[in-house]
Amino acid sequence: MTQDDMKKAAAEAALEFVPRGGVIGVGTGSTANHFIDCLATVKGRLDGAVASSVATAERLKRHGIPVMDLNEVGALALYVDGADEATPHRALIKGGGGALTREKIVAAASRSFVCIADEGKLVDVLGRFPLPIEVIPMARGFVAREIVALGGEPVLRQGFQTDNGNIILDVHGLKILDPVALEERLNNITGVVTNGLFARRGADILLLGTPQGVRRLP
Ligand code: 5RP
Repeated sequence: MTQDDMKKAAAEAALEFVPRGGVIGVGTGSTANHFIDCLATVKGRLDGAVASSVATAERLKRHGIPVMDLNEVGALALYVDGADEATPHRALIKGGGGALTREKIVAAASRSFVCIADEGKLVDVLGRFPLPIEVIPMARGFVAREIVALGGEPVLRQGFQTDNGNIILDVHGLKILDPVALEERLNNITGVVTNGLFARRGADILLLGTPQGVRRLP
């Protein structure tokens, strides 16, 4: 079974959480893309979806799923998205695709967050995957120095601009033992839009594709 097969299996398993009626939030990335393709098979159940990126909005529309503005719909029953790393406590690193800020907004506005991933994303300690941080362009140097002072090694994601017009610093060398504290600390650096730690609002349910089937936590 390939990694992509495991992503697809996790995405299919998330369908059972999709409510009848209403609007759900949809994440970004290859696993979220599999979920969108699955969602298209039950699209009659939904009034529409809120997208966490331009790319996701385009894929939803291609499938004929109405894309809604978060400001028009209020709280969402469900958010489904992938992750770059996840702990058994369901704290996450996200933002490998650069959509972390909109993902964090939609996750925050959702009553339930189901995270879908292949089993290779499960770790005991977050930080092997470089932590993405979205930064206002003029603050790049200042934020990078603050991150170095915290023990990280920031690397500018070359040639990349977020959907919000900002840059991404990928921070290497962190061993994240207290994700909630680091998430808050990084977000307090002036010029940081947000960071890819989803710990204060982690996933409620983690669905991991494995060769033996889909594993659910908790
Ligand atoms: C995008 C993300 C993605 O969820 C994360 O990068 C995982 O991607 P994939 O499903 O392609 O492995 O946070 O910003």
